[in-house]
Amino acid sequence: MASQNKPSLPVIKRLPRYYRYLGEMAANGVVKISSSELARMMGTTASQVRQDFNCFGGFGQQGIGYNVQMLHEELGKLLFSPRAVPTILIGAGNLGHTMANYFKLDTKGFELLAAFDIKPELVGTTLCGVTVRPFSEIESFCREMNPKVAVVCIPREAAKHAAPQLIELGIKAFWNFSHYDFRIDYPEAIVENVHLGDSLATLSYEVNNMENTNG
Ligand code: NAI
Repeated sequence: MASQNKPSLPVIKRLPRYYRYLGEMAANGVVKISSSELARMMGTTASQVRQDFNCFGGFGQQGIGYNVQMLHEELGKLLFSPRAVPTILIGAGNLGHTMANYFKLDTKGFELLAAFDIKPELVGTTLCGVTVRPFSEIESFCREMNPKVAVVCIPREAAKHAAPQLIELGIKAFWNFSHYDFRIDYPEAIVENVHLGDSLATLSYEVNNMENTNG
């Protein structure tokens, strides 16, 4: 078996894409794939693919390619918890609504238990199957249900203000859409920041660069 190196963050960040492509291939009946074919899809090199997988034991035999179904399952085991991690949503506005919808469709490994908001008109409504509760109930809810993950869809200042309470109530990980960076004040927290603006700025850079190149 290949030697196992501790996976770096860039390797971990590539796993979901490997998983997604392999899932699509498995659904299309593809049985085997070589590291160079996988590399072409990922926009990387075969050596990079092999190095990435060596961090987890290799998964394949040199020369005969990877079994698509098996590799998809193995990556799924690495990525997703077998028992759904209890999760709450903070902020039931436009973005919160979208994220609650997403949880209904595609969230292996997480279970959305409840949503919280401060707007009285939202409290008591149902958001894609979960009840919106007043934020004032968060303490009693967390003490009883012990959620570990929060999806944060509130403005920056509100998130900064809520952070110490959420940490104190045992939230370990944040899927963070707010513009508050939890890691600065809570370096031990697991934080995945999602910023559409960053993605658009990256696109913008490339578009600008293309225009400059083309004169
Ligand atoms: P929205 O105004 O529709 O919803 C925000 C909700 O948060 C409201 O229902 C409000 O009552 C609630 N809220 C405010 N303070 C709260 C608190 N302390 N506890 C619980 N609920 C609280 O706004 P939208 O469009 O849903 O956006 C939410 C935030 O996400 C915005 O601040 C925006 O900056 C950010 N955002 C981030 C994006 C990203 O790509 N990361 C994309 C779009 C918005």
